[in-house]
Amino acid sequence: MAVDGVSRVRRAEEADYRTATEVLLRSRYASVPAIPSLVHSDEEVKAHFVGTVMPFAEVWVAEVDEAVSGVLVLNGNWIEQLYVDPDWTNQGLGTALMERAKVERPEALDLWTFESNRGAQRFYERHGFRAVGGTNGDNEEGEADIHYRWVK
Ligand SMILES: CC(C)(COP(=O)(O)OP(=O)(O)OC[C@H]1O[C@@H](n2cnc3c(N)ncnc32)[C@H](O)[C@@H]1OP(=O)(O)O)[C@@H](O)C(=O)NCCC(=O)NCCS
Repeated sequence: MAVDGVSRVRRAEEADYRTATEVLLRSRYASVPAIPSLVHSDEEVKAHFVGTVMPFAEVWVAEVDEAVSGVLVLNGNWIEQLYVDPDWTNQGLGTALMERAKVERPEALDLWTFESNRGAQRFYERHGFRAVGGTNGDNEEGEADIHYRWVK
């Protein structure tokens, strides 16, 4: 990993959920227009992830000097969320989280990404994912998306 500080990937605890959601929010804001704007308020997003999504999924975080700087949400074989804090992108944290996802789900992984998010598509293709489908906007944001799959 290209990070200077001490970094590691670990399973998130309940106490991390809010911080992990804040990383996700910072990443979403920094990614517009490659990723469409959120259709819910920050507080709605926090309540949704902290109260509804994360307790029923498998959440992993990437830390730099013990600060949560990336988040991975796995649900079944799906990567539901993968976000790295904008201050830490391009330094290997996303790769470290993806490698963890493959260790945890060694057979196959699925995910959705927006068609407009070319950077993420390069990242997923480099990690062996292939496009297997997509929609013209069958998501909350109403924008075209791509279904990617990785198989061992
Ligand atoms: C996509 C993402 C998780 C990759 O993690 P990372 O730690 O930045 O990636 P790594 O350092 O391991 O690998 C670098 C690659 O990530 C991708 N990447 C880097 N910054 C990115 C950004 N701001 N947005 C999208 N992809 C990015 C690129 O493919 C890059 O390779 P490149 O040099 O060919 O451009 C991370 O960049 C991110 O959170 N981006 C913004 C949000 C996002 O797109 N999440 C995925 C939603 S489906």
